[in-house]
Amino acid sequence: MYPSTAFTTVLASLWTGIAIAQTSDSTNSASPSTVSSNTSTAASGTSSAYSQSDVPTGTPLPGNYAGPLRPQVHFSPPVGFMNDPNGMFVDQDGLYHLYYQYNPTDTVAGNQHWGHATSHDLYNWTNQPIAIFPGGPGEGIFSGSAVIDVNNTSGFFPNQTNGVVAIYTLNTPERQTQEIAYSYDNGYSFIKYSGNPVIGSNSTQFRDPKVIWHEATERWVMVVAYPVDFEVGIFSSPNLIEWTAESNFSHYGITGLQYECPNMVELPVVGGGEAEDSPSTLWVMLISINPGAPLGGSITQYFLGTFNGTHFEALDSQTRLTDFAKDNYAGQFFYNIPSGQDQVSINWASNWQYTNVVPTGEEGFRSSMSVPRGHYIADLERFGLSMISYPYNISSVVDTELASNSSLGNGTVAVDYSAVESGALYFEANVTGLPDDSPLTGTLNFTFMSSASGESVSGGTFISSGDVWFNRGNTEGLASNPYFNNKFSQTGLYDGSGSWNISGIVDRSIIEVFLNGGQLSASSVFFPSQPFDLMILRVAGLNENASVSVGVWSLRATWLDQANINGTVLGNVTTGNDTGATTTASMEAVKLF
Ligand SMILES: *[C@@H]1O[C@H](CO)[C@@H](O)[C@H](O)[C@H]1NC(C)=O
Ligand SMILES: *[C@@H]1O[C@H](CO)[C@@H](O)[C@H](O)[C@H]1NC(C)=O
Ligand SMILES: *[C@@H]1O[C@H](CO)[C@@H](O)[C@H](O)[C@H]1NC(C)=O
Ligand SMILES: *[C@@H]1O[C@H](CO)[C@@H](O)[C@H](O)[C@H]1NC(C)=O
Ligand SMILES: *[C@@H]1O[C@H](CO)[C@@H](O)[C@H](O)[C@H]1NC(C)=O
Ligand SMILES: *[C@@H]1O[C@H](CO)[C@@H](O)[C@H](O)[C@H]1NC(C)=O
Ligand SMILES: *[C@@H]1O[C@H](CO)[C@@H](O)[C@H](O)[C@H]1NC(C)=O
Ligand SMILES: *[C@@H]1O[C@H](CO)[C@@H](O)[C@H](O)[C@H]1NC(C)=O
Ligand SMILES: *[C@@H]1O[C@H](CO)[C@@H](O)[C@H](O)[C@H]1NC(C)=O
Ligand SMILES: *[C@@H]1O[C@H](CO)[C@@H](O)[C@H](O)[C@H]1NC(C)=O
Ligand SMILES: *[C@@H]1O[C@H](CO)[C@@H](O)[C@H](O)[C@H]1NC(C)=O
Ligand SMILES: *[C@@H]1O[C@H](CO)[C@@H](O)[C@H](O)[C@H]1NC(C)=O
Repeated sequence: MYPSTAFTTVLASLWTGIAIAQTSDSTNSASPSTVSSNTSTAASGTSSAYSQSDVPTGTPLPGNYAGPLRPQVHFSPPVGFMNDPNGMFVDQDGLYHLYYQYNPTDTVAGNQHWGHATSHDLYNWTNQPIAIFPGGPGEGIFSGSAVIDVNNTSGFFPNQTNGVVAIYTLNTPERQTQEIAYSYDNGYSFIKYSGNPVIGSNSTQFRDPKVIWHEATERWVMVVAYPVDFEVGIFSSPNLIEWTAESNFSHYGITGLQYECPNMVELPVVGGGEAEDSPSTLWVMLISINPGAPLGGSITQYFLGTFNGTHFEALDSQTRLTDFAKDNYAGQFFYNIPSGQDQVSINWASNWQYTNVVPTGEEGFRSSMSVPRGHYIADLERFGLSMISYPYNISSVVDTELASNSSLGNGTVAVDYSAVESGALYFEANVTGLPDDSPLTGTLNFTFMSSASGESVSGGTFISSGDVWFNRGNTEGLASNPYFNNKFSQTGLYDGSGSWNISGIVDRSIIEVFLNGGQLSASSVFFPSQPFDLMILRVAGLNENASVSVGVWSLRATWLDQANINGTVLGNVTTGNDTGATTTASMEAVKLF
């Protein structure tokens, strides 16, 4: 979450305290109701549906997703400003829930709510009503997580096994405390626990709780950041209400100026468990750093280790980064993906150094998420154990094959994709037949460009060295911004397998590039003045018997497909006739800016 408390002073002026629509059971109270005990009984609480005059409750904000910079297979908010992904869980019907730090009233950070969207495939998202609202002027609902309390450890859910508990930071000018809210309706609406906070504090620097269920100790475990102390606190709880501080993980890796948004997750190790001393899973501690990343602003680092229910022990002192470009921050893992499987994260694809000024503001929104990333651990040549990060389930949005060449040697593939509605593509290039008895040679490059303006982004790989690079400098948007780095590069390492691979997703104003199935990845936003419509992939200088197999596909326009006749995506608007949990707000009352 954004560190500044400065914007909280601005909040009061945005506040009017008049709700335009109200859920039937909400109290519209700006202060918590009487605090009851924190024992595990279902406690009464306040509905989270407090609202400012221009923030609708019970209905999603409408948005127009037709702008030339608006991604079509990435999540972005209907209007306003988005940052960290929050509360991510997959429910018992396999529906993914994504919440997000959301300012519904402006295109810069501030006035933090929890926005909400759902998806069956992690690409095609349905906007839902805002899930958690601040309780009064000066309050912000900052980052956090959500769990399903199947066993009713909290006592909130006497009659159901799909109760959802959100754990988040309440930010006020005085302090940051950890609070909870519970949902009877699968995460669509929440009631704030009347005994909040569940972890009190007098510090303004204590935030971003991420909670998991730790099967071995049958306890809930929270990681939470003490940002300016460069510490991650590990807490445990039997019931999500009473928390015990167990240990701190501190001063590891790059500290930058703050630690934020920690995650702890158990990942399968490919090839692990075969030898006696090789574990079949490892734990990963991820810590986002902002400001103070090596390339400026925000980035995410991770540590591999073990976790015994109270202490995370890093295997080594090595700092590893999740990404080699600059737009991958505050990633969160989904709760409730069965252990033993690849786990899935979504990351905020932006950087605090320029996120409040990116040109998408002209289209009424700022920021998008990364595509979902699947993760496991592999033991890589020379690098050793590493977290692999690949586009998860991309096939669900792959549409039409635009080009295919299974035996491109030194050569070029050009694709005019001006007719692709989404403006979004997926491509793969597999180099095979690399020799094991002579030095590797050759380069493989891709370019996406606007035939109208000549602007482009490009990237590629030097197969000889393993270098992979990306350049967004030939685009107009943010060209004069001193923090908007143009070029990024990193080095992979050939493992002698005879093959080398690069793939990527380009989606109007964001590109994600993957080397060798996710051994390295780069997430980068870019802002051309004209839409891109031409892709060129070139190979030269390849070893004599090597070959390249190239495929390029269009991706579905998941947002444009949802637009009504007026071009507006309304999201999950109901008549208020079904569950009683939602009502239709008057669209006229929603101020769009
Ligand atoms: C919560 O429970 C703990 C342990 O039982 C107790 O010490 C504490 O006073 C309780 N807090 C509140 C606010 O009731
Ligand atoms: C629920 O209870 C079962 C049976 O005791 C246990 O194995 C499981 O870990 C519990 N899960 C959660 C999330 O409470
Ligand atoms: C389940 O319990 C909650 C809280 O007591 C109550 O609001 C809800 O109506 C109950 N649902 C059913 C289906 O009984
Ligand atoms: C916050 O400060 C007050 C006043 O000094 C103190 O009574 C309280 O225990 C403190 N709370 C925490 C959580 O440290
Ligand atoms: C967990 O690890 C810590 C540090 O190694 C140790 O002090 C603690 O006793 C361990 N806990 C359990 C339950 O093994
Ligand atoms: C790829 O780009 C690099 C860096 O600009 C260049 O050295 C190389 O010749 C290019 N290769 C092809 C096939 O265009
Ligand atoms: C590619 O070009 C190089 C020379 O630049 C040549 O040695 C090699 O045989 C060619 N490879 C293929 C697969 O055609
Ligand atoms: C690239 O290789 C992967 C893994 O073998 C395969 O699944 C994929 O279809 C290949 N792609 C192309 C374009 O040949
Ligand atoms: C998105 O999901 C909706 C509802 O499940 C479906 O009707 C629609 O066809 C999907 N759109 C795309 C582009 O897959
Ligand atoms: C489209 O806009 C017109 C004019 O504002 C309005 O009457 C109509 O109901 C809208 N249609 C939809 C489907 O939103
Ligand atoms: C719309 O929201 C309701 C809860 O308010 C939920 O039950 C329903 O599944 C949602 N529908 C869609 C398509 O997201
Ligand atoms: C509301 O629910 C009633 C009873 O189920 C149904 O007859 C009616 O058609 C519904 N109205 C709307 C607008 O969906």
